[in-house]
Amino acid sequence: MRIVVTAGPTREYIDDVRFISNPSSGKMGYEVAAEAARRGHSVCLLSGPVCRKAPAGVRILHFESVDDLMRLAGQAVAEADCLVMAAAVGDYKPARRIAGKHKKAQRLELELVATTDVMASLAEAKGRRIFVGFAVESENVLSNALRKIESKGMDLLVLNGPESFGAETADFSLVLQDGSVEGLGVVSKAEVAGRLLDEAEALLGARESG
Ligand code: CTP
Repeated sequence: MRIVVTAGPTREYIDDVRFISNPSSGKMGYEVAAEAARRGHSVCLLSGPVCRKAPAGVRILHFESVDDLMRLAGQAVAEADCLVMAAAVGDYKPARRIAGKHKKAQRLELELVATTDVMASLAEAKGRRIFVGFAVESENVLSNALRKIESKGMDLLVLNGPESFGAETADFSLVLQDGSVEGLGVVSKAEVAGRLLDEAEALLGARESG
C-alpha cells in the first residue's frame, strides 16, 4: 500500500526565534515508517523537527507548523491508501507572529488561537483510505476514544499513556470503530508499529475486496 506517516512535534512561532512546541521525539512515527518500508510498502514520512536518521527506503518531507503539515499532508494523502497520524500536532498557535526578535520586557501577553485539525480536515475527502490516529486519554477513555474516531474519520485509534512521550516503551491499546479494544500491555514502539500495520493492512484488504 501507499502510506503517509506523520511524526514528531509541530512548532508555532511567537517571533523569529521563539516558538511553542511539545516534547514529541518522533520515535513512534519513525518506527511505523521504517517497518512499513521493510514490508515493501511505499512510504512518505512527514517529519517535524526531530533528531533522527531517515529510515531506509522512505521518502521524507519536513514540516514545522501545523499549516505546513496541513499543506504537505493534503498533497501526500491524495496519492495514498493509508494515513498514520503519529505527529503530536499542537492545538494552539499565536494569533499574530511578531516580526523580528521581540525585545525582552517584564510581561508579554500572548493570544492563542486554535490550529487546524489536520486529520479531521483530511477526513472530509477520505474516500476508501484507512486512517490511523493516536491519542492520550486520561478520563472517560472509551467514550472519548470513540468520539475522536468518529470526528476524525479514524479506522483505528492507538491509545497510549502520557508517559509515552519520549519513552522507549509504554502501555498501549488499539481501539476500532466498533468500540472493540485490544490491550497490548507495556510494549516497545517498534512492536506497536508492527501491530498497527497488521491492522491497517487487514482493514485495507477487507475494504478493497468488499
Ligand atoms: N491531530 C490532528 N490535528 C490537530 C490535533 C490532532 O491531526 N490539530 C491528530 C493527532 O495527530 C492524533 C489525533 O488527531 O493522531 C488525536 O490527537 P489528540 O491530540 O488526541 O486530539 P485533539 O483533537 O487535540 O483532542 P484533545 O482535546 O483530547 O487534545
